[in-house]
Amino acid sequence: SDGALPYVPARGGLPALRRAAADCRGCPLYADATQTVFGAGPARARLMLVGEQPGDQEDRAGEPFVGPAGRLLRSALGEAGIEDEQAYFTNAVKHFKFAPVTEGRKRRIHKAPSLGELTACRPWLAAEIKRVDPELVVALGATAGKSLLGSSFKVTESRGALLSLTPGADLPLTAEEKHDSDDDGRRLLATVHPSAVLRAKDRDEAFAGLVSDLRVASRYLG
Ligand code: URA
Ligand code: SF4
Repeated sequence: SDGALPYVPARGGLPALRRAAADCRGCPLYADATQTVFGAGPARARLMLVGEQPGDQEDRAGEPFVGPAGRLLRSALGEAGIEDEQAYFTNAVKHFKFAPVTEGRKRRIHKAPSLGELTACRPWLAAEIKRVDPELVVALGATAGKSLLGSSFKVTESRGALLSLTPGADLPLTAEEKHDSDDDGRRLLATVHPSAVLRAKDRDEAFAGLVSDLRVASRYLG
């Protein structure tokens, strides 16, 4: 399958992308989720932050990073000296994937997207990067890292370093993406996912690690 590719409009800005993404059926995840959660933020943000997929609250609100992980991320950005209003927030996968709701339980349990779903949704992320044209993309966790750098990406090996954003060679690239990967030194910085900080045994230490990585982004953007 071509995943999301047939649904991505060749022309138009972010609003056109967002409208088209609302009707995407590029993988099975649209069926059980409430809605597509597209990226949000300034159309020409210098910084783009990429998470894994919307969570329970994002699925209901239709906006990325509005739940607990988003609050933690915004507070880490603040400590690193980055204004969150200046950043574009999005996810590697645009629909919420969750375990079947057992009766009496209100919150649905997040499930990690498969590599197939990640690949299917990648054209949306590629199109957002092309339209927003950020100087720096921050990959939050392994899923975002794999989507942006290829399936062998590991957070522990790469976090906190300024890398160059060349799409992973093992993922199918459109001609446009190939062209983009040749251009102008866009940078990528990987760090942990804010949900991993929420789950960490030593939360203060994990939070400090996230802030320290984001300071590298802050310094790069000046
Ligand atoms: N986690 C993510 O990766 N993205 C969101 O938008 C919310 C939680
Ligand atoms: Fe389309 Fe991505 Fe949603 Fe799958 S997860 S239906 S590819 S928007």
